[in-house]
Amino acid sequence: MYIRKDGYYKLAKQQGYRSRASFKLMQLNDSYHIIRHGIRVLDVGAAPGGWMQVLLTAVGKTGTVVGIDILDIPPIHAPNAVIIKGDIQDPAVRQQALAAIGRKFDTVVSDTSINISGNAAADTARNLELSHAILASLPDLLKTSGNFLIKLFYSTELKSFLTLTRTYFTQVYMTKPPASRSSSSELYLIGKGFQPVPPVSGTAGDR
Ligand SMILES: C[S@@+](CC[C@H](N)C(=O)[O-])C[C@H]1O[C@@H](n2cnc3c(N)ncnc32)[C@H](O)[C@@H]1O
Repeated sequence: MYIRKDGYYKLAKQQGYRSRASFKLMQLNDSYHIIRHGIRVLDVGAAPGGWMQVLLTAVGKTGTVVGIDILDIPPIHAPNAVIIKGDIQDPAVRQQALAAIGRKFDTVVSDTSINISGNAAADTARNLELSHAILASLPDLLKTSGNFLIKLFYSTELKSFLTLTRTYFTQVYMTKPPASRSSSSELYLIGKGFQPVPPVSGTAGDR
C-alpha cells in the first residue's frame, strides 16, 4: 500500500504510535531484520517513545527494551521497558543501561538528533560528533556479533564515519526508508556482526 509521506503522521495517531518515526523503524526492520523476538535492545535518543513501542512488540515479552534520552520519555507500561533520562555520552548513564539488563545488548539503535540551532552546517557537524560518540561507546554496550542501527545526516564528512563503521561490522548498509521524508537529509546506517576490536590484517579481530 502506498502511503503519502505526511500520511504517516496521521497513521501514527490512528494506530497509537507516539511518533511517525515508528514507521521508519518498522520498515528498516522488515528489510534488515535486526530486531528479533527475545533480544535485549538499547534505544538511544528514544523520546517520545515511538521506536520503543515498535521494539517492544518486536522483542515480545521475553525481550527487553532500554530507552535513553536527555528529555523525558513518557512512561511505558510494560514490565520489560526501562526508561533512563540522561546523555548517552555520559559513562554513568551507559553504566545504568548495562546494569538494567546485567549484560551487553544484542542490538543498539539510535535515532538521536541534536536540538537544532538553525545553522545547518554547525548542526550537521554536531550530529556527526554525537554519532561518533555513540559508535565509540559500542564496545561497552554491544555484544560481539550484535547489530547496530543509527540515523545519520548527509554530509561530505560522512564518508569517514562509514569507513570507521566498516572496521567494526562485518556487513554495513546505508538506506532511507519510505517513511523518511525525501526533503530530509537523514539516512540510516545498519551494521551487522559487531567485532569490538577492528580487525588487524591477517587476524580474526574478535578477541
Ligand atoms: C528524533 S527524536 C527520537 C524519536 C524516537 N525515535 C521516537 O520514535 O519517538 C531524537 C531524540 O534524540 C535525543 N537526543 C539528542 N542528543 C542526545 C544525547 N546526547 N543522549 C540521549 N538522547 C539524545 C533528543 O532529545 C530527541 O528526543
